[in-house]
Amino acid sequence: MKILSGIQPSGRLHIGNYFGAMKQHLQLQDANDGFYFIAEYHALTSNPEPDTLRDYVFAVAADYLALGLNPEKTVFWRQTDVPEVVELMWLLSCVTPVGLMERCVSYKDKLAKGLSANHGLFTYPLLQAADILAFESDLVPVGADQKQHIEVTCDIAQKFNHLYGETFKIPKEYIIDSVAVVPGIDGQKMSKSYDNTIEIFEPEKKMRKKVMKIKTDSAGVDEPKNPDTCSVFALLKLFASEDELKEWDKKYREGGMGYGDAKKRLAELMLEFFKPYREKREELDKDPAYIEKVLKGGAERARAAAGETLARARHNIGIR
Ligand code: TYM
Repeated sequence: MKILSGIQPSGRLHIGNYFGAMKQHLQLQDANDGFYFIAEYHALTSNPEPDTLRDYVFAVAADYLALGLNPEKTVFWRQTDVPEVVELMWLLSCVTPVGLMERCVSYKDKLAKGLSANHGLFTYPLLQAADILAFESDLVPVGADQKQHIEVTCDIAQKFNHLYGETFKIPKEYIIDSVAVVPGIDGQKMSKSYDNTIEIFEPEKKMRKKVMKIKTDSAGVDEPKNPDTCSVFALLKLFASEDELKEWDKKYREGGMGYGDAKKRLAELMLEFFKPYREKREELDKDPAYIEKVLKGGAERARAAAGETLARARHNIGIR
């Protein structure tokens, strides 16, 4: 199967990115054909500083490689190195009703907050559809926030196929319920744009500090607590063994445990979990030439794949 997914270089990758998406990307790469890319064009919709954008692209690449992305097997590239996708987006845009874009949440939310959206944000889901369709993806592993974008992709692909004949494969989302929305330190969805993230490769001290800041209710040590509504417990679920989790569940419900204890243990577990990858991450930091080589090699393979789909779409729509 072809597995495709993208991550925006709009900040350092965090635990929500890891459990909601990257973990699945890495697990699926061995038995399938993985296509993973750094979505720079999507990140431009928030107008980052040029140097910041370059730094984040590098960091996303280094994070992925440190965590185990295998560039020998998996195709890994920068979105901006594959212009075929942008051309495909134009062909798709000509069969896309404006109303479909208007219903998409990231654009709607921005307007609801009284902010003015740029046109890139408006067409953001269309570029994502081009990403997905260009590579004939079977499965798109993402967090819950991307569900609508995949539905839109299927709508547009079906419309195009209906108008111009079988051109695109219809993809499926792959969302794991238990990790679909990882909470951040303020209890909202962990997100670079809410400034509530815990980064995967956060320096140790900072990681502990952030964990201690996770928002909880004000139940005292002796009082019983509800694990089902607690962000600390939700994060413990990602890192603790089943037996340990059962113990925490009991301690929460019985009382006699302070949130501080649960947080300290959570920080330990997080640091332990990512520790085996830290050394590799530090090595990669010193080897930008290797990272560049991987991304360039990936782009060549990605261009070849996207080129075939684009040629078919051009032909079917009536271009020479
Ligand atoms: P982005 O960069 O916002 O996030 C990357 C991936 O991480 C997931 N994610 C989360 N999952 C669970 N809990 C969270 N708190 C959390 N925060 C982020 C996201 O769901 C995503 O899977 N539009 C995409 C990038 C993209 C793309 C694509 C994805 C561009 N083209 C084609 C798939 C296919 C985005 O903004 O992801």
